[in-house]
Amino acid sequence: MIFNRLLGSAASVLLMAGAAQAQTMIEIDRDAPIGTIAPEVYGQFVEHLGAGIYDGIWVGEDSGIANTDGIRDDVFAALDRLDVPVMRWPGGCYADLYHWRDGIGPREQRAGTVNMAWGGTPESNQFGTHEFFDLAERLGAKTYLNVNLGTGTPGEAQAWLEYITLPEGSDLAEERKANGREEPWTIDYLSIGNETWGCGGNMRPAYYADLYAQWATLLKTAGEMPKRVISGSHEGNIDYSGEILDHPGMGELADGISLHYYTLPTGDWGDKGEATGFPEAEWNSTITRTLRMEEAIEQSLAMIDKHELGQDFGLYVDEWGMWVNGPEGAPALYQQNTIRDAVVAALNFHLFHEHADRVPMTNIAQMVNVLQAMILTDGPDMLLTPTYHVFEMYRPFQGATALPVSLDAPMIGEGEGAFAAISATAALTEEDELVVGLVNADPNAAHRVTMAAGDARRARGRVLTADSIDAHNTFDAPDTVVPEALSVRARDGSFTVELPPRSVTVLTVE
Ligand code: AHR
Repeated sequence: MIFNRLLGSAASVLLMAGAAQAQTMIEIDRDAPIGTIAPEVYGQFVEHLGAGIYDGIWVGEDSGIANTDGIRDDVFAALDRLDVPVMRWPGGCYADLYHWRDGIGPREQRAGTVNMAWGGTPESNQFGTHEFFDLAERLGAKTYLNVNLGTGTPGEAQAWLEYITLPEGSDLAEERKANGREEPWTIDYLSIGNETWGCGGNMRPAYYADLYAQWATLLKTAGEMPKRVISGSHEGNIDYSGEILDHPGMGELADGISLHYYTLPTGDWGDKGEATGFPEAEWNSTITRTLRMEEAIEQSLAMIDKHELGQDFGLYVDEWGMWVNGPEGAPALYQQNTIRDAVVAALNFHLFHEHADRVPMTNIAQMVNVLQAMILTDGPDMLLTPTYHVFEMYRPFQGATALPVSLDAPMIGEGEGAFAAISATAALTEEDELVVGLVNADPNAAHRVTMAAGDARRARGRVLTADSIDAHNTFDAPDTVVPEALSVRARDGSFTVELPPRSVTVLTVE
């Protein structure tokens, strides 16, 4: 069977996808680029929560675990390979309880507090401002600071910004220097408050809008101002963001508004579904719910447009990812991560690429040991999750130009729960290479994809797949789900690739 034909236009690339039963044509339009995929679309979120920072990232200089200035070396090296573009810190819900002065100065003298946002666990404050900004600097990552609107004051936040960014000339700048950091750091993104509809204060949107406007007017950094992000709604409550934006002048006071969207396999916060050992029906519902991100993005953008804030007013999806039931007795929000998480991550990337012109940053929740993590640790041991591998495989998309892709994939399931078996994304890298991401979300069947790419000779990349829908890496078997190399030769200018069931593939066309 012929799956492919060359379109003959240098300006377009044709893909055709098919299964044994069905055949789908995918077209990539090079003539109408969507926009640059900001590297920050591959951003991370680091909250003081469970083992997200302590044990996961920070072990302290005296630890038996190899570390540099208290940051574990194994985790750092793994993160470094991801080209982490930006990190959001210190929360989340915790941001609204965080007082920055607790986390500066000699570590042995730092305040011992409790993390009332997440189970009243002890908080040693060993990881604070210096540790976060130094980590970001070592990783070459931008910084996204979430200031404490809930239990803080504008004065406290302003002092923090001055401490971080003022080169010299004030007591706060001198205090930073005395604490070991001569040069100021850069705050690239700033959010005022978090989930103000919930843990951040259960506020009416108009009340938060007044507070936001007041704080955004008063808060200043030295040098260039960070991009300012209003804390917006979650997917079920887009109107909340709309009412915030009703406040006059938000276009001048903010660069965008956030959206939080979590994928719960069951959709039920009381029983979200298990990380492993789940039924196939929950694989399917997870895919369906993930794909509803598109609706949430489009509703949010429509709401921004209704307020005439312009195309540059961004939608920041600064919390997203899988949220499942955690194991008994584990640190807060610790969960295992399977090939399902990898597929979920890639499907979200594809949706973000489709809106690259309007979504300047996203932050998966969260980086280490929390929710859909890149990395899990257990004492001195560390493993890379399937989600880690997908972030690593999609690195070529950071900074690339997203191209429109159209396809007509076979459907899995029926009615509201139906979803397309195949999802595709494409972009041109800065080196003008075509990179293609392909997901086969079918839990059971392989699907064949055929790509026609003009005079291209070869496509190379990797595929991540697994034998079962809940396959995952463990500390005893950390390489159960790892990417494998894939090289496809062009025949008459076209490629045919068989996508295994439950798989993610990234190919660069050469
Ligand atoms: O990511 C975990 C929590 O989820 C964050 O602290 C909060 O903002 C959200 O509800």
